[in-house]
Amino acid sequence: RKHAFTSSAITQSDIRRVTVIGSGQMGSGIAQVAAMKQHEVTLVDVNQEALERGKGYMSKSLKRVAKKKFPEDAKAQNQFVEKALGHVTLSTNASKSVSNAGLVVEAVVENLKAKQNIFVKLAMEAPDNAILASNTSSLPIAKIAAPLTLSQRKRFIGLHFFNPVPQMKLVEVVRSDEVDQKTVDDAVAFVKSIGKTPAVCKDTPGFIVNRLLLPYMMESIRLLESGVASARDIDTAMKLGAGYPMGPFELCDYVGLDTIKFIVDGWYKEGAGLKGNKLFESSKKLDELVQAGSLGVKSGKGFYDY
Ligand code: NAI
Repeated sequence: RKHAFTSSAITQSDIRRVTVIGSGQMGSGIAQVAAMKQHEVTLVDVNQEALERGKGYMSKSLKRVAKKKFPEDAKAQNQFVEKALGHVTLSTNASKSVSNAGLVVEAVVENLKAKQNIFVKLAMEAPDNAILASNTSSLPIAKIAAPLTLSQRKRFIGLHFFNPVPQMKLVEVVRSDEVDQKTVDDAVAFVKSIGKTPAVCKDTPGFIVNRLLLPYMMESIRLLESGVASARDIDTAMKLGAGYPMGPFELCDYVGLDTIKFIVDGWYKEGAGLKGNKLFESSKKLDELVQAGSLGVKSGKGFYDY
């Protein structure tokens, strides 16, 4: 497949070298999808144990993809998995791993200071035309980039992937006020090159998807609280009546109730343009579940039992 790379500072071969910082759920997914499209990927984490866990995620997911792609051909399946993994280098040396990267994607813990520290260091060590991207879902892109130089901020962008990365087709490309159009164009081209579909949006809380999903989730919880219908019936209604693949409570449990609470509380307290907005006011039901450690699928119990 050909991509329309025009006369930008980043060449097609540059952007094929991708460094992913953080080999957790998201980072290993991003590394995997880039590797499946023959990008040269370096996956970085703080220790070997975390890297091995990331590799485990990739292997498991790649095997699933291979089974679908080559049913009943074990040899082709193995080749597919090995080929993709062959495009991923694991590293605990972040500085070295970015030294000739075309794109650096950060997917470490959702903590502003941690992300800023990583970029302050790596922006200096990466080539001076490399795109710098964060996979943050709730932090303002401009805030993460604030300690960088202007020329670095012009190359700084949000690349917001969705979980699970190999299955979810969307990537939100988040542009701050300072980013170069060229950076946006190159990021969009990269997203397409890994078989995903970009949606470009401004640097605002929740971007597009979460800005619309969180009010929907919170309204669903309030509907349940007010006794209008059971969680099961609300889920059934939205699946069969609105055509959604999951009901709101299945979705809440999948995302994690602590995550949902963390996001709405943050926006309600200080979200740009959202502060004090009733849409994001917490609910007694949500608070109780989180308090009790019923966080959804990951804890075995949320709105449903697992
Ligand atoms: P995770 O906890 O699974 O993985 C984070 C990884 O980063 C860990 O392996 C950790 O060891 C590593 N790490 C921490 N500090 C590091 C450093 N200084 N250098 C290198 N590696 C470091 O987290 P997850 O779920 O993958 O999330 C990562 C980011 O993606 C967060 O910013 C999150 O908000 C965002 N995100 C998460 C989604 C999700 O559904 N989990 C969806 C979209 C974005």
